[in-house]
Amino acid sequence: MTNAASIDSASRDILRCDGARLWDSLMALARIGATPAGGVRRLALTELDGEARRIVIDWLRDCGCSIRIDPIGNIHATRPGTEDLAPIGIGSHLDTQPNGGRFDGAYGVMAGLEVLRCLDDHDIRTRHPVNVTIWTNEEGSRFTPVMMGSGVYAGAFTLEHCLAQHDRDGRSVGDALVAIGFDGRDTAPALAAYFEPHIEQGPILEAEGITIGTVETALGQRWFDVLITGQDAHAGPTPLAMRRDALLAAAHLIAAVRRIAEEHPDEARGTVGQLDVTPNSRNVIPGRVALTVDLRNARDETLSRMVEALRAECAAIAAREQLGIELEEVVYFPPCRFDPALVGMVEQAARRLGHSHRRIASGAGHDAVYVARRHPAAMIFVPCEGGISHNEIENAEPEHLAAGTDVLLEAVLAFDRGAV
Ligand code: HGY
Ligand code: MN
Ligand code: MN
Repeated sequence: MTNAASIDSASRDILRCDGARLWDSLMALARIGATPAGGVRRLALTELDGEARRIVIDWLRDCGCSIRIDPIGNIHATRPGTEDLAPIGIGSHLDTQPNGGRFDGAYGVMAGLEVLRCLDDHDIRTRHPVNVTIWTNEEGSRFTPVMMGSGVYAGAFTLEHCLAQHDRDGRSVGDALVAIGFDGRDTAPALAAYFEPHIEQGPILEAEGITIGTVETALGQRWFDVLITGQDAHAGPTPLAMRRDALLAAAHLIAAVRRIAEEHPDEARGTVGQLDVTPNSRNVIPGRVALTVDLRNARDETLSRMVEALRAECAAIAAREQLGIELEEVVYFPPCRFDPALVGMVEQAARRLGHSHRRIASGAGHDAVYVARRHPAAMIFVPCEGGISHNEIENAEPEHLAAGTDVLLEAVLAFDRGAV
């Protein structure tokens, strides 16, 4: 048994993960919820999510981990260390978008598993325990808020609020957790540090031919549920001037959301991703439209200005089209800056391993954003093909996934030795 602490970074051999084993684990996981187009549909807290959780728990147990499930269903697998220290955390999520890919979330969890398997292969016992966490409902697709499990862990939301959230079929988070057997009672562990590997989900690393993204920041996000209430009426006899057309109002609002993003600086983003029309009949002027707005920005002040512009647009459209527009804010987190010392460790690990690397911002939210509110956290990005994600064609190169896992292992060992 090698005690990792007794090896200083200069002399310590560089360990490499087993890239083939990592890839095989990812492909085995991707079969749970596999779609005909080659993606994965494994919505949060469905039976498929439960099946993926159970198989990964078995793999983690094979690495000598004890398993804790907390009340929002986060899974915390802990490989013991030699000293009574807070664990070094690794993690991400297993839930996917409806048209998700094989790597978003799954890569971070499988990279954590591969690190544990490597430590076992080399018979290394770290000083700190090493913890792999699977966070509940990172995607925020079936249930809002997004990053729910890590948000409860960080105190961004109360457990009660999240358990009471329900999907479009009226199923609550609490009931869904019970249904798949992950309504835990355990206390989530405090961590000494947290690393989250993830595909970039954007085009920068691939376009620049760079293998590792050392993530410094993540955009702030503000999500709204919008309800537009006009009046159902007949598409034929109703004169144009008499219409209170909720879908026409939605069309104006969708264009306005894009314009707000175009007109604001600091990496502004604006997206309407969900739209429900009632009664959704071809010869009825729609009286009710529910839609979602997702605004993002690198600066909190600019994000606030974007929200003001959104509210002003809603008021103007409501007045012009003589209908009601209600906004409910369902997600808000400011831009996040990851721990500089940990970011430096990720960068040092990439350098020691000889991988090209660059500092980068994350356009996506990740569980690390909330974990960073409690503990030092950093992320490791690897390229994805065409920068495409939240799409069934999402793809990544095995050598990039292995490189990111090697950097993770190197950073964990460096942190364990106290090389912060
Ligand atoms: O929406 C996001 O940024 C992430 O995929 N939850
Ligand atoms: Mn993700
Ligand atoms: Mn995602």
